[in-house]
Amino acid sequence: MLRRPDGWSDRFRQAGDQLKRAADRGLEIRRDRLSRDDKPQHRPLAEIQAELDSLVGLESVKEQIRSQLVFLEVKARRKEHGLSDVATSQHLVLLGNPGTGKTTIARLLAEMYGSIGMLQKGHLVEVDRAGLVGEFVGHTAAKTNRAVKKALDGVLFIDEAYSLTPQGLARSNDFGSEAVETLIKRMEDHRDRLVVVVAGYPRLMESFLRSNPGLRSRFSREIRFPDYTTDELVQITEKLAIDADYELAAGCAATLHALFESVARSDGFGNARYARTLFEQALNRQAVRLAESRQVTSLDRRAVVTIEPEDLKEAAAMLDG
Ligand SMILES: Nc1ncnc2c1ncn2[C@@H]1O[C@H](COP(=O)(O)OP(=O)(O)O)[C@@H](O)[C@H]1O
Ligand SMILES: [Mg+2]
Repeated sequence: MLRRPDGWSDRFRQAGDQLKRAADRGLEIRRDRLSRDDKPQHRPLAEIQAELDSLVGLESVKEQIRSQLVFLEVKARRKEHGLSDVATSQHLVLLGNPGTGKTTIARLLAEMYGSIGMLQKGHLVEVDRAGLVGEFVGHTAAKTNRAVKKALDGVLFIDEAYSLTPQGLARSNDFGSEAVETLIKRMEDHRDRLVVVVAGYPRLMESFLRSNPGLRSRFSREIRFPDYTTDELVQITEKLAIDADYELAAGCAATLHALFESVARSDGFGNARYARTLFEQALNRQAVRLAESRQVTSLDRRAVVTIEPEDLKEAAAMLDG
């Protein structure tokens, strides 16, 4: 008969308790993870829509997104009624110059898809050429697949998609076309779990979409982002100021108007991004002005929230230079 050492049962009980506690902790962690993965927290649709509405201009873009959402909601109701589901892909092309709001809209769209349950997570994974195209044979498909995997249940956002198919480069010398082919395959395979959004300059996107015969038909919609007008850029700057707890003093609107009118609107003009850079530069100018006029420690609330027209003018001069 096996002789148990003294105190065996006590030690056994202690070890058992330890194991149980560990298991409880483990279970707790796992339960935690489950609730995070299986049921991600989504903002209510109304809240995301309010954010969309609060964007300056973009009326035609907003209109197309609203109609897309209504379509998806009807589709969901049809499913609830047991009606047949017409397979539709939601892959999108966003055409517009830099700073016209493409990334902002793509992010909100991803969230909306998550909120209505079309995509489980509704996150956005942004990649460029370097995130998809490899440096040696076999590397590209693996890289593209990895990006797709990361974006599953959300949106894969490919900025400047035409960099995948550079003009003038012999196809055989470039792995970009391999990335496109891999992508096309995954767009079909994961139609229900992945939305691919490609974005960039309108003219260059045109040649990208023509670069592979199967490409264009994979996208259900092409949304155009117009350049912002001068008035819209002024409003965008005002919104940036409000969102950041600043106030624009009297005369700022007129100053902004004149500044935006005077910058060259070439293809490379940064649109809202220029407005943001100008605003951020103005914050620096304001700080310098305040430091020159008074002890920084004695500044009142009024002083630190106010942006003066001269702050904007100096900021623009610095950006010019
Ligand atoms: N309509 C808009 N209203 C307010 N802010 C905007 C608007 N469009 C763009 N912005 C702001 O301008 C910046 C650039 O926008 P982004 O979406 O990155 O442009 P893109 O992706 O087209 O280059 C962001 O900081 C964004 O918040
Ligand atoms: Mg962008």
